[in-house]
Amino acid sequence: MTALTVDGVGVTLLQRRVVDDVSLTVPAGTWLTLVGPNGAGKSTLLRAVSGAVEHVGTITFDGVEVARLRSRERARQVAVVPQDPARPDGMTVLDYVLLGRTPYVPYLGTESAEDLAVAGELLDTLELRSLSERMVTALSGGEFQRAVLARALAQQAPVLLLDEPTSSLDLGHAQQVLELVDELRASRGLTVVSALHDLTTAGQFADHLVLLVDGRMVAQGSAQEVLTEELIREHYGARVRVVTDPYGGVVVVPLRSRPARGQEGVA
Ligand SMILES: Nc1ncnc2c1ncn2[C@@H]1O[C@H](COP(=O)(O)OP(=O)(O)O)[C@@H](O)[C@H]1O
Ligand SMILES: [Mg+2]
Repeated sequence: MTALTVDGVGVTLLQRRVVDDVSLTVPAGTWLTLVGPNGAGKSTLLRAVSGAVEHVGTITFDGVEVARLRSRERARQVAVVPQDPARPDGMTVLDYVLLGRTPYVPYLGTESAEDLAVAGELLDTLELRSLSERMVTALSGGEFQRAVLARALAQQAPVLLLDEPTSSLDLGHAQQVLELVDELRASRGLTVVSALHDLTTAGQFADHLVLLVDGRMVAQGSAQEVLTEELIREHYGARVRVVTDPYGGVVVVPLRSRPARGQEGVA
């Protein structure tokens, strides 16, 4: 169980402050989701948390500054599903998932039976077993996205960062992947920080939502507090209706500004 704190964090890219003075606390075993329009800084903030981009301010895992961790230690603490991961040439799905075990393989050693068991179990869970010998360059977008998640979960790190992890998945696989992450959060106390562009999904899976706009936090709280018609109109320029489903979840429904086709003249 690892808590994450972000305190006064800023990131400057090409002389532009794209993440500005963000402070968050993510208690161990909870799920925080970043929402916000394109270019808001969600990916950049996640990259700062994983140590992939320089930042000002302080980011800690259980009180230890990320910037002080060496890469192997950091890989045992935090696993990442990036928004646009590269597909290595000439690598099978199994070998790609095994990359997640690198922080546990001794220098100059090979993977152990346990490493293979962890990878094999994830191939089954994510329905990749029949593709395990396929090259990652020969997968569909959705199959590769599941392989990327399998690689991240193979790392067995207590903190999991997910940047649009379901952007290429159909509805069924998206639900399956997010439920799997939520089960691991509950059973192993994983601390999850994600960026999700689907607002309804964001509300369904997060304990806490943060709305980022132009690198700054403009709202945070429960789905009811953050996913409001007013905030979405103001910051996304979108017309939506927010309704509550029978289980108390928040559903964000996009509206057209004129009648749908075939409904012209219907009051
Ligand atoms: N490598 C980079 N160099 C310069 N600017 C970047 C780079 N990556 C992202 N940006 C800019 O930083 C801002 C935030 O981008 P990003 O974090 O990807 O937003 P989001 O994930 O919310 O869509 C955008 O204006 C984007 O153009
Ligand atoms: Mg992004």
